[in-house]
Amino acid sequence: MKNMKKIVALAMAAAMTATLAACGSSSGSSSSSASSSAPAAESTAAAETTQTNVDPAVEASTDATATTESTAADAQTPDLSSDKYVGDGVWTVGTNATFPPFEYIDDNGQPTGFDVALVQEIGKRLGLKVEVQDMEFDALVASIGSKIDAAAAGMTVTDERKKTVDFSEAYYDATQAVLVKKGSSIKTQDDLKNAKVGVQLGTTGAGIADDLHGEGSDKTITYNSYNDVVQDLINGKTDAVIMDQVPAEAYQSQSGDQLEVLPGTQFNFDTEEYAIALPKGDTELLDAVNGAIDAMKADGTFDSLVDKWINNYSAE
Ligand code: ARG
Repeated sequence: MKNMKKIVALAMAAAMTATLAACGSSSGSSSSSASSSAPAAESTAAAETTQTNVDPAVEASTDATATTESTAADAQTPDLSSDKYVGDGVWTVGTNATFPPFEYIDDNGQPTGFDVALVQEIGKRLGLKVEVQDMEFDALVASIGSKIDAAAAGMTVTDERKKTVDFSEAYYDATQAVLVKKGSSIKTQDDLKNAKVGVQLGTTGAGIADDLHGEGSDKTITYNSYNDVVQDLINGKTDAVIMDQVPAEAYQSQSGDQLEVLPGTQFNFDTEEYAIALPKGDTELLDAVNGAIDAMKADGTFDSLVDKWINNYSAE
C-alpha cells in the first residue's frame, strides 16, 4: 500500500511538471496561472486584458484596431522596457495604411488589415502591447530603431533594406503587377517604357519604374499614398501603376469596373516575399517574433488570418 501511494505521488508530480512545461511554451495557449509568475513589467501590461486559450477563429475576429495585451509568461518574450525601444513594454509598429488588404484605414479612421492583425497576434503571444503607427512608406525603414520598433507594411525583403534592418521570416509570397484603365493598350514591358507610370515612393514598384525609365525620369510619378497613385490613374494623369498584385486587385475592385490588373509575369517581374522589418542586430526580438509566427503557422491561426483578411477581403 505504501508503495502504491508513492507511485501515485510520483505520477502526480510528473503530471504537474508536464503542465508547468506546457505553461512556459510559446504556443500562446498557456493557462492564466502563468501570469502569476510573470515579471513586474508584464503583470502591469496584463492588467487590462487577459487572453487565454482563445479559439483562433475568435482571435481572428478581434478588433484589429484595438491595442492588444497578454499574460504570456514566455521565456522568449523580448524585454521592451529598455531604452532602445520606443515605449516601455509597448511594441510600436509602423505601417502605411494605403495598401488593402494588408493595411488600410477602417470606418473609424484606424489602421486595420492583415498586417495589423498579424502584429497584434504576435504581440499577444509575446506579452507586448502593440501600437500601430501610420506613416509614409518611404520613411519606415529609416525610422526603425528611432520612431518605431518594427514595420509591418507588406514590405518586400530586399538586399538594400537588409543593410539597415533585419527581416523576420517571410510570411507572404508576392509579385508586382500593372494596374491600368480597362481597355488600355499597355501589354508589354516596352509599352510600359513609353508610358507615364505612377508608383509609391520607396517601393519595389518604384524601383522597377526607375529601371524602365531611368532614375528621376518625368515618366515616373511618385506619390506617398496609394490612394493618390490610383486616383491619378483614374483621372488619366498616368497611364499605368506598378504595384503589388493583391493590393492592385483590391483597388481594382474598389474602382467598380474602371481598372484592370495585368499580371507581373506579362512584364517579367520577379517574385517577392513580405516580412516584418526589425531593428538590425536585435536577435532577441527577431527570435521571439519568428517563434510567434512559427507557432501561429503550426496552430492554424496564421491560415485563419489569411482567410479572414486576404481571401475574404471585399472592398467597401
Ligand atoms: N511590397 C512593396 C515594397 O516593399 C510595396 C509595399 C507597400 N506597402 C505599403 N503599406 N504601402 O516595396
